[in-house]
Amino acid sequence: MGRFRANLMVCAGAGCEACGCIKIRDAITEELKKRSLDEEIGVVLTGCMGPCQNAPVILVYPENIFYQKVKVEDIPFLVEEHFLKGRPVERLMYQEADTKTAVPVMGKIPFFKHQVLRALRNKGFIDPEKIEEYIARDGYMAAAKALTEMSPEEIIKVVKDSNIRGRGGAGFPTGTKWESCARIAADQKYMCCNGDEGDPGAFMDRALMESDPHAVIEGMIIGARAIGATKGYIYVRAEYPLAIHRLKIAIDQCYETGLLGENILNSGFDFDLEIYQGAGAFVCGESTALMYSIQGLRGMPRLTPPRSTEAGLWGKPTVLNNVETLACIPQIILNGADWFKSLGTEKSTGTKVFSLSGAIKNAGLVEVPMGMPLRTIIYDIGGGVPGARRGRKFKAVQMGGPSGGCIPESLRSTRPLHSRTFRRQGP
Ligand SMILES: Cc1cc2nc3c(=O)[nH]c(=O)nc-3n(C[C@H](O)[C@H](O)[C@H](O)COP(=O)(O)O)c2cc1C
Repeated sequence: MGRFRANLMVCAGAGCEACGCIKIRDAITEELKKRSLDEEIGVVLTGCMGPCQNAPVILVYPENIFYQKVKVEDIPFLVEEHFLKGRPVERLMYQEADTKTAVPVMGKIPFFKHQVLRALRNKGFIDPEKIEEYIARDGYMAAAKALTEMSPEEIIKVVKDSNIRGRGGAGFPTGTKWESCARIAADQKYMCCNGDEGDPGAFMDRALMESDPHAVIEGMIIGARAIGATKGYIYVRAEYPLAIHRLKIAIDQCYETGLLGENILNSGFDFDLEIYQGAGAFVCGESTALMYSIQGLRGMPRLTPPRSTEAGLWGKPTVLNNVETLACIPQIILNGADWFKSLGTEKSTGTKVFSLSGAIKNAGLVEVPMGMPLRTIIYDIGGGVPGARRGRKFKAVQMGGPSGGCIPESLRSTRPLHSRTFRRQGP
């Protein structure tokens, strides 16, 4: 990024793609060339930045100026005004609702102001299809540390100490799950990632896989090393073509650079990873059904015990973790358990990614510290219910998908623990 006077980050999450961001990127590139600015201004396609309601969106570094609902016709004016004349274009900025004044800087816009990015820390910063951009943001440092400086027991201890609980819904402590699998001796173990995400209206995991696929893969490498797995699967529903496309590119890049396969980083550790595409059955998000599905069997949950950590894929010890859980792991290894625990509540540490959808003004993707009251998420970040001025009222919020529940108006100051808090699951 330092090569350029400014960088134009064009959001290429699925929402912005559907709203024509590729045409916008092409128009920007053409316009910059026409005005001989292409050597001075960089253009990057990034993963989802979150404010899907206002797609397509663009962020300009280093000033962090945020443009929304940009159209191809706006591009010549935007390039001339912002990059030639140094006058950012107010009409394409977020407008303060009461005063109708433009808010240029991303961090001052209410939707972004209350967020803390950890799992989503690379969104809007990197091109998810370039491994070197992930590496430039300390990517694979944690895997290198885990593989060359830490024993499996040390990895598990840090994860246990961080108190991270699975983001897939059951809230099971990740370190404990890894420990119970690591204890079992077996000729083959598996490390799996759950990217099924069948809950209606949920797109946290999709956005994560699309915007930062390497973070998920890195979390899986660390988990595999901790439990002694040499083979892994990422289970992604086939309705997520962009996530699958970017994960495939990321996996290929890892094989090319020696971060997957045999003797990773000369550590003596081998790990192979592939994607398994699910056919879009909600029940296949459940761990035992998911494993049957990978085996080519009917995706039906079975009774436990035995737990998957004892007898999972093909009867071998298997750990299954959610996409977001895995994306948090590299940061925990690099920054330590106390850093992770510095946000959230005593029982639910860290942050949580939420997708806001339905009757809410600012639909999109957000990440907030665990324990933030729903009120803050719905009103301060989400902007409240559309039509509130006409008397439309907030009735309830549905959380946790089909296994979740509805939280009525009277409880809107409740502190949610998870987006899917209610599933009763073991490891
Ligand atoms: C019906 C059903 C559907 C589920 N769907 C998902 C899903 O889409 N994604 C997910 O991560 N977990 C899902 N789960 C939870 C998984 O069974 C499992 O607990 C989770 O993937 C473990 O990862 P974690 O410990 O990192 O949360 C589902 C559970 C049930 C009962």
